[in-house]
Amino acid sequence: MDRRRRGLLSVLAMIVVFGSLNIDLVTRVAAIPGPGRTVLAPSYQTHCGGKGANQAVAAARIAGAGKIAMAGRVGRDGFGDQAVRNLASNGVDTGLIVRVGEPTGCAFITVDGSGENAITVASGANLTASADDVPARCLNADTVLLLQMEAPFMQSLEVARRVKAASGRVIWNLAPVPEQMTEAMIGALLATTDYLIVNEHEASDAAAALGLAAVDFDAAAAGLARAGQLTCVVTAGARGAFAYGGDGTRVHAPSLDIIPVDTTGAGDTFVGAFACLIGENAPLRTALEAGCEAAALKCLKSGAQDGMPVRRDLGSVGGKRTQLF
Ligand code: RIB
Repeated sequence: MDRRRRGLLSVLAMIVVFGSLNIDLVTRVAAIPGPGRTVLAPSYQTHCGGKGANQAVAAARIAGAGKIAMAGRVGRDGFGDQAVRNLASNGVDTGLIVRVGEPTGCAFITVDGSGENAITVASGANLTASADDVPARCLNADTVLLLQMEAPFMQSLEVARRVKAASGRVIWNLAPVPEQMTEAMIGALLATTDYLIVNEHEASDAAAALGLAAVDFDAAAAGLARAGQLTCVVTAGARGAFAYGGDGTRVHAPSLDIIPVDTTGAGDTFVGAFACLIGENAPLRTALEAGCEAAALKCLKSGAQDGMPVRRDLGSVGGKRTQLF
């Protein structure tokens, strides 16, 4: 695809994801080893991952080709080729991705018998991602920006500020929560965000960083929503998702009743599906339901992206709904 065509797709993209691209090396074990322990696994699998790339693929599977653009950085190595090729084959515009001399990000993932995981990310090229990778021509009032915490925080914040200046909307998935998250960081994040998406632990960590006294995730999320005058969404696994408005409103969407094979990327699938529906101006409850259902379906397959559903898959599982939207 030539440069002019790539630029055109980026302008048309509704959702712009600024974040990480990784290659995931995945092993399955009976139980995840604790510190100082070694366990043997018979083999490993290589999957495309990275929270940014996962969310871009999740959104593209539901939105369709040409609506999602990914900005981020990979190395000039085989993993980088694989990561970019995978996004393109999922209908994500890759014209904003920059190749650099650092190695492509790599995640080492161990999945246990119940589908739970432990992840260590070697960030590599992701640490060089720059706000300038997202040109002004990509930002307008229809833009929905999707951010996570695997790209440099100050660069993500700068892209968020530019999107807000262009009257676009910002969805920020606070994952993973940095060990050194300061009150200033969370304050700046809340000031540029329309939808904050966290899991239960991230909600509590963010509230604590802000100095809020919250006894549980419910109080933490309500406090974050009030402090930022935004919508705070908490993904709570089998209990579904909860949304808290800055005005004290609450909405809940249930999850599907499934037996998970691999939960890796479930949160990313929720975020991508949610962002897609928000970009389409669907009601909040519909976006929550789509996120919950997409995330549950993802957990039925191994790897962060393999189980991510397409739009026609939603609303057809478990007999709970016949038609979602
Ligand atoms: O959220 C799952 C993702 O976290 C994995 O794909 C891995 O790359 C890490 O970034």
